[in-house]
Amino acid sequence: MAERAALITGASGGIGLAIAEVLAGEGYGLTLSARRPEKLEDAVAHLREAGHEVETVAANVSDEAELKSIFTAHEARFGRLDVLVNNAGVGIGAPLAEIETKFLDMQLAVNLRSIILGTREGMPMLRKAGEEHRKALILNMASIAGKSGQPWLSIYGATKAAVLNFSVATEREVGKEGIACTAFAPAFVDTAMTDFVKGAVPAEEMIRPSDIGEGVRYLLKLSPNCHIPEIVFTRGGESDGAP
Ligand SMILES: NC(=O)c1ccc[n+]([C@@H]2O[C@H](COP(=O)([O-])OP(=O)(O)OC[C@H]3O[C@@H](n4cnc5c(N)ncnc54)[C@H](OP(=O)(O)O)[C@@H]3O)[C@@H](O)[C@H]2O)c1
Repeated sequence: MAERAALITGASGGIGLAIAEVLAGEGYGLTLSARRPEKLEDAVAHLREAGHEVETVAANVSDEAELKSIFTAHEARFGRLDVLVNNAGVGIGAPLAEIETKFLDMQLAVNLRSIILGTREGMPMLRKAGEEHRKALILNMASIAGKSGQPWLSIYGATKAAVLNFSVATEREVGKEGIACTAFAPAFVDTAMTDFVKGAVPAEEMIRPSDIGEGVRYLLKLSPNCHIPEIVFTRGGESDGAP
């Protein structure tokens, strides 16, 4: 059984999978989650083939009961939680006058509400890990769009700004218990989420998902005395409207 364990939402591709690869390489047992089971199983096959301990849970994080089921399965398999990665997110652009309520609610539920509920669900296990080694970690996926509002991505940016604020509050509330909370705020990363903009910004000019994974490796290496509340990943001199 792995000595440490992590839970990642939105782990069937893109940034979540890149983070899973880093945590697997660092010896963590993993619970990986996303909505579509076949895509999730395909995405994690190479980790299992390499001998890593991987639990998969198909769940929609906007549904509280399904979200809870990820934590229940994780606790049953690993009995501990050292790193929680609240990563699942969706971006649906729209002009202000054409915002559809169902897409507003979806982005609030997936990008913000699930991070708050996931933090609540993970807290008992994270507290135990913090008490044990003072290196428990919550990683919340925000965005550079949360640093500064972007036209047509107003809801997405607002949810991510809220994630940044919630992350600061979390760090201040539980940091002394050996639980660090870091928010990541990347610009365009080459994933399925940025396919919509690849006509204007070529994929090869985007941040690599592995760059975000390396950010996690860095956090794992820090002494327990050093917490990093936020990391902004830019594409070099440009302030783009990334999701
Ligand atoms: N790519 C970027 O440029 C960029 C920049 C800044 C921040 N981010 C943030 O980084 C995170 C990951 O994005 P990505 O670029 O890696 O996106 P991605 O490649 O589209 O992956 C999204 C992941 O989330 C899952 N997911 C989506 N909706 C879900 C739901 N309701 N419940 C559970 N899982 C769900 C997807 O699987 P299923 O569809 O099967 O559920 C998939 O595993 C998001 O929070 C995003 O906002 C991305």
